Amino acid sequence: LKEDEMKIVVIGGTGQVGAPLVRALDERGHQAVAASPSTGVDARTGHGLAEALAGAQVVVDVANAPSFDPDEVLDFFRTSTRHLLDAEAVAGVAHHVALSIVGADRLPDAGYLRAKVAQEELIRRSGRPHTIVRSTQFFEFLRTIAAAGQDGDVIRLPEAALQPIAAADVVTALVDVVLAPPVDGVVEIAGPRCRPLPDLARAVLAGDGDERPVVGDPDARYFGTRIDDSSLTAGPGARLGATTFEEWLAVRTG
Ligand SMILES: NC(=O)c1ccc[n+]([C@@H]2O[C@H](COP(=O)([O-])OP(=O)(O)OC[C@H]3O[C@@H](n4cnc5c(N)ncnc54)[C@H](OP(=O)(O)O)[C@@H]3O)[C@@H](O)[C@H]2O)c1
Repeated sequence: LKEDEMKIVVIGGTGQVGAPLVRALDERGHQAVAASPSTGVDARTGHGLAEALAGAQVVVDVANAPSFDPDEVLDFFRTSTRHLLDAEAVAGVAHHVALSIVGADRLPDAGYLRAKVAQEELIRRSGRPHTIVRSTQFFEFLRTIAAAGQDGDVIRLPEAALQPIAAADVVTALVDVVLAPPVDGVVEIAGPRCRPLPDLARAVLAGDGDERPVVGDPDARYFGTRIDDSSLTAGPGARLGATTFEEWLAVRTG
């Protein structure tokens, strides 16, 4: 490694955030390593972790569970986070960065969000130097949210506001966090505007040529839990992504 060049291991470095993050860190002159099952590193079993982390200054965890079943996702984030923190202590890694979700702690009835809270707690309690980056939903995730709201021939979604962000802006924010010292706390990132979820879903589906009606329903659930305008939107100190929903849609739909 040259002077000022860091070895940065990106767990989940082949994913939708991980892959562009590895590229962006490489472009900044660092040695970024994509670590995931497809590159021979499994955070859940611990396989290949010690070798991958040797000589690393920073570990960024942007892995995701292969199944969203509440028990499996909880096991995935707990087990993989324990393995990572233990391996980082052995390797002397100076900064653990993890990507979590704005509002996860406000929605204990959602199994996936409970697993993210468990992940955050393990990191905090480990005493290891860390930064937890809590992001709102990615624009790219809106289609999955819409699919989860399918009710017969319609998409039924809560009227609550979301503040979604472009995955590319998440990557930009993560680069800055990775290259800065640990804050030993939480950094929030979010999209530039809050919008009612049904409006967002309607626009994404229209861009796909999907004509199913999207219905705003105050009784509809978000992945099994009730949400309101303050559930998933960021606090006043959040760093806001530059890309608007309209800009993202225009690029996506050409
Ligand atoms: N989607 C959203 O709106 C949103 C919002 C806020 C935060 N987040 C968080 O963002 C993170 C990344 O999500 P994403 O949608 O970008 O993920 P993704 O594209 O589904 O990528 C998942 C990554 O995890 C890796 N992985 C799976 N099992 C692993 C294991 N056992 N050990 C190591 N790596 C493993 C995969 O590797 P292979 O390619 O080798 O299988 C892949 O690189 C998640 O923690 C999620 O909670 C997402």
